Amino acid sequence: MTLEVSELGGAGGTRRQPALVLHPDLKGAEKTREAASALEEALALAEALPGIEVRGGEVVRLQRAHPGMLFGSGKVAEIKARIEALGVELVLIDGPVSPIQQRNLEKEWGVKLLDRTGLILEIFADRARTREGVLQVELAALTYQRTRLVRAWTHLERQRGGLGFVGGPGETQIEADRRAIDTQVVRLRRQLEKVVKTRELHRAARRRVPYPIVALVGYTNAGKSTLFNRLTGADVMAKDMLFATLDPTMRAVTLPGGLQVILSDTVGFISDLPTQLVAAFRATLEEVLEADLILHVRDIAHPETEEQAADVESILTDLGVDAGVRRLEVWNKIDLLPADDPRLTIAARRDSVVAVSALTGAGLEALIEAVGLTLGDERRVETVTIGHADGRARAFAYEAGLVLEEEVGDDGVRMTLSWSPRQKAHFESLLV
Ligand code: GTP
Repeated sequence: MTLEVSELGGAGGTRRQPALVLHPDLKGAEKTREAASALEEALALAEALPGIEVRGGEVVRLQRAHPGMLFGSGKVAEIKARIEALGVELVLIDGPVSPIQQRNLEKEWGVKLLDRTGLILEIFADRARTREGVLQVELAALTYQRTRLVRAWTHLERQRGGLGFVGGPGETQIEADRRAIDTQVVRLRRQLEKVVKTRELHRAARRRVPYPIVALVGYTNAGKSTLFNRLTGADVMAKDMLFATLDPTMRAVTLPGGLQVILSDTVGFISDLPTQLVAAFRATLEEVLEADLILHVRDIAHPETEEQAADVESILTDLGVDAGVRRLEVWNKIDLLPADDPRLTIAARRDSVVAVSALTGAGLEALIEAVGLTLGDERRVETVTIGHADGRARAFAYEAGLVLEEEVGDDGVRMTLSWSPRQKAHFESLLV
């Protein structure tokens, strides 16, 4: 089935839809960020979509949200004039828009309208790469669409919600559409279950990998892919595009100095992620839970770098990454800072912070050294005795290069091993 939501995304070669981006700045609403910079992010999100040509963007101040059209009638008319002057066919509203408001505004302005959830869904749909990512996005899109099935005369209802007995042809069609969506949702969920099972198998296989896993996380556009490419020499697609990576990419690499790790790139974080999209986003991030080390990449030159870092930390906590997991902060884009910026001194003073420029390569040696030290730190040398039947555990220890010494006796095999807690746990799980 083709989703309406991807109609802007792909379709290479077709004309780009002229669009206007509006960021409603609601008076008195709880705000985590400045309206101007929220608008900037929304513009960058819109520009990341191949099917859209952004013709303008503005912050629209609002005393209160009007139930029917979101904006007051004066604003609605003002924006209509803008739309006509710019020749816009698509309006992106960076905030929640109810189905009723959407329908009314689309009619009034003669355009197609997407709210923030719709916009992020478009981006997810455009970027999803793994099977699970695609399914999660489709599921989120369907759930979203289901709420957007609105009757033409729905504004008469005054938000009482359908009573069920107010029949009519529109009603029947909507019910049929709804049922079709529900069937599709059930099918998708079943597929997802299968995919998740397969992924668990992959993950179990990965756990057997002898190398520590290093996950790159960070706010969208922080420079994760650029850093990943620098460290691996791989071409993972670094573009000046938000969400260039929706699904984690993993690569086994030998860092200069000989340390072998698995490096995993993840999708960028974004503030105020609509709740319907959290599952899709989480699915792309679960790999982080497996990591031995998390590199939190920050765009240190961004005016809202502190707010972004706080967002990332709170999402990591929500995901269940406990505070005990080793973390390094990578302060990226230092090439954009003046040489006497105090943050460079702060970074130099903190063990858990490394300042780099993924673009110029500055600071990368220090980063690699810090990764090595942090991971090396974890290793302990211990001696254990295993039974003769514990061939699987012993094979793992050799495969992972953990064995320093071994002595075979009558009562079992005495092994001296150098390992990380994760490797030790895996070894123990293989014991008979
Ligand atoms: P998402 O995939 O959206 O999460 O982004 P990302 O964090 O992977 O960012 P990406 O590596 O795609 O970089 C985003 C933009 O920042 C690109 O235009 C990069 O060229 C630029 N960039 C990355 N690192 C640096 C740096 O050290 N200095 C400067 N000046 N620009 C950088």
